[in-house]
Amino acid sequence: FVCLQVQQYLEPFQLSEANLRDVSARLSKDLDLGLGKNTHHRAAVKMLPTFVRATPDGTEKGDFLALDLGGTNFRVLHVRVVEEEQKVLKMDSQICAIPKEMMLGTGEQLFDHIAACLGDFLISQNLKGQTLPLGFTFSFPCEQKEIDKSILIRWTKGFNCSGVEGKDVVKLLKEAIRRRGDYDIGSVAMVNDTVGTMMSCGYKDQSCEIGMIIGTGTNACYMEEMRNVRRVEGEDGRMCINTEWGGFGDDGSLKDIQTEFDVVVDKTSINPGVHIFEKMISGMYLGEIVRLLLVRLAENKLLFKGQTSEALRTPGTFETKFISEIEEQVSGLENTQIILTKLGLKWNSVDCGVVRLVCDTISSRSADLCAAALATITNRIRTNRKLARLKTTVGVDGTVYRKHPKFSEKLRATVRRLAPECDITFLVSEDGSGKGAAMVTAVALRILIHHI
Ligand code: BG6
Ligand code: GLC
Repeated sequence: FVCLQVQQYLEPFQLSEANLRDVSARLSKDLDLGLGKNTHHRAAVKMLPTFVRATPDGTEKGDFLALDLGGTNFRVLHVRVVEEEQKVLKMDSQICAIPKEMMLGTGEQLFDHIAACLGDFLISQNLKGQTLPLGFTFSFPCEQKEIDKSILIRWTKGFNCSGVEGKDVVKLLKEAIRRRGDYDIGSVAMVNDTVGTMMSCGYKDQSCEIGMIIGTGTNACYMEEMRNVRRVEGEDGRMCINTEWGGFGDDGSLKDIQTEFDVVVDKTSINPGVHIFEKMISGMYLGEIVRLLLVRLAENKLLFKGQTSEALRTPGTFETKFISEIEEQVSGLENTQIILTKLGLKWNSVDCGVVRLVCDTISSRSADLCAAALATITNRIRTNRKLARLKTTVGVDGTVYRKHPKFSEKLRATVRRLAPECDITFLVSEDGSGKGAAMVTAVALRILIHHI
């Protein structure tokens, strides 16, 4: 009986195959809108040209620096690309914490901090006298004018530093380095994390033409035919497009599948109305959706004998990693008990079952929605190339995809149903953004040298 009543609350999160096909059809229209010369200004899905025109061909080489900002960790890396061995070697890397206040402070503080971290890293690596090219993985929507000119459209996820939106991020970084005056960098290539992920996998598997992130945020990029990229001149070849699919629904197009809990998560976020799709899917928000549901079920006496706790009533206390721990096959039940106790809740075995069901429902919806979006892209590539079947590889990264015990399997199963003519290989990117950013820089240099 309890389960039947709980089910009423979960139903709006359980999307049917028809729902998912419908979502995919809407996204497909949005992709066209975002690519169009006269329509992209009003598109919710931005479809940003990245100026990455080629995936690696295995002849790239050299030493590079890389910065990786926008995921769980800010990192500085030294990467070597070795031509003969067809290898990308990470020489070393360092995580550099960004305090929460700084994520909401001024842009100048943020870039000074980035420049300081890079400076410390160069000293620790004995690289200070050298002027190495730098790949900057900056995981936010940017309007790129060229590979080294990248204007932040808006912050997403937990960042909201003043004075950066509308500015060229490369310029802000260079200015911060100039303010210090104790080291210099070579040419810079700006890279979205999806692009870095695609490129790092592309070195291993040259049919990797899609990059996907399901972590703090969610997004994907793919190689689009130049003739369809109406905003950039030229008809030949392909260019990687950063879809920014997290923004899908920002024009209200997902209202019918948004639940009242999604609406609260959006309203209470630092950027209401922005990145609606992402807020139903990614790690920054999944825990909060579960928390809101648990509070509601307890208030309606369907959990914890009608009692909540102060911790459960506090936003942000139910971390997304709890969902993974709770859904673990072997240790899941024990983990559930530990987590509920830590949250100050009094539970019985039925409560534990309900909490596990709630987590499963929320993570399954996330995987299904990602699958619908990915199927839209693979179906598009297949149609672009007029193929009966498409065989392709997707480079993937992000804590939700990596750490959740069932996410990747669920995603794969749903994509198979929604895109049956596509054979998709999923490749988890190892150190994607660091190595990928170095690859983008290396490919850009290779192409530059060929053109001289
Ligand atoms: C990391 C990449 O491994 O994954 C980052 O290096 C990326 O560039 C991140 O943003 C995404 O995952 P998460 O979970 O850290 O946001
Ligand atoms: C957010 C960002 C996007 C990034 C994604 C994954 O959606 O806007 O640029 O790729 O998070 O990190």
